[in-house]
Amino acid sequence: MSFTIVEEAPARLNRSELAVPGSRPALFEKAAASAADVIFLDCEDSVAPDEKDQARENIIAGLREVNWGTKTVSVRINGLDTPYMYRDVIDILERGGDRLDLMMIPKVGTAADVYALDMLCTQVETAAGRKKKIGFEMIVESALGMANIDAIAAASPRNESLHFGVADYAASTKARTTGIGGPHPDYGVLTDSDADGARAYHWGDMWHYAISRMVVAARANGLRAVDGPFGDFSDPDGFRAQARRAAALGCEGKWAIHPSQIALANEVYSPSDADIAQAQRILDAMEEAQREGKGAVSLDGKLIDLASIRQAENLVRQAEQIAAG
Ligand code: COA
Ligand code: MG
Repeated sequence: MSFTIVEEAPARLNRSELAVPGSRPALFEKAAASAADVIFLDCEDSVAPDEKDQARENIIAGLREVNWGTKTVSVRINGLDTPYMYRDVIDILERGGDRLDLMMIPKVGTAADVYALDMLCTQVETAAGRKKKIGFEMIVESALGMANIDAIAAASPRNESLHFGVADYAASTKARTTGIGGPHPDYGVLTDSDADGARAYHWGDMWHYAISRMVVAARANGLRAVDGPFGDFSDPDGFRAQARRAAALGCEGKWAIHPSQIALANEVYSPSDADIAQAQRILDAMEEAQREGKGAVSLDGKLIDLASIRQAENLVRQAEQIAAG
């Protein structure tokens, strides 16, 4: 291990994160009753410009009046380049009661963006006598944000998670796609001919770099890594595939932009009983190995070593968190 200890953000379940437009308060109770781990009430891009003030008021009332149970509740504020953001922060922290847990910062571009919000939140919290310090979720969804991702992830002790905002990222990088997440038919490889002259075309994952990059920046700073939206909510198989490949790379959850995606995300991001049993077998085998003074042994014909313990412990810890949540 490095002499630098990475401090982990507060432990929260973040398998599914439901987006709820602030302009549709009728959805708040439904969101609270859903199985989503995290709810974010949106002031930003799902709200039209002339509805910004009303959406903010809806959110303030919803935070105070709706019973959010044990959910993590977040608000996505408007961007730092808009004339709405300061009022989102000040009004919601001053008048939104004390239920709010997190604030989601969209289109974060530099560490200074996070610094500025940290300062503003600290002032309002201190002046209003708020006991609970608001945590930050940051959406990496621009070329600038991706270029500065390490500094952004390290910018504040309030930081809890990084999210990959695929649609704005595509727009910012001028990627040739108009979908919200999912693969692209142009992003693939054509194999050489086989003996019969046949060639195969294999689709690749055009978001692989971005998600891996985000996972590294997040984990190096003790943050959660969360995959963003998949727009086609009529395609559960497509959602599942996107969620599974992000989980394989280290994400611990995915957004739901429609209630039908909540159960899919919870399913993909919960370890299966077989996963947990296997992790327990690895821990047992390693305990025995350590008693015998060995650092690496074989289990079912495969190498396991001290890294396997850490992987298995992550999984068992996650299962315990889910059982407790
Ligand atoms: N949160 C809670 N409940 C929701 C919901 C949400 N985000 N979206 C839909 N519902 C409810 C509907 O009210 C409806 O409830 P009912 O069965 O009691 O009538 C049910 O789920 C089915 O909804 P449906 O009719 O299929 O969807 P819709 O046409 O009302 O809305 C969207 C579809 C995509 C516009 C809507 O889901 C939405 O606004 N999603 C979030 C978008 C967002 O925030 N984007 C920003 C981040 S990318
Ligand atoms: Mg966006």
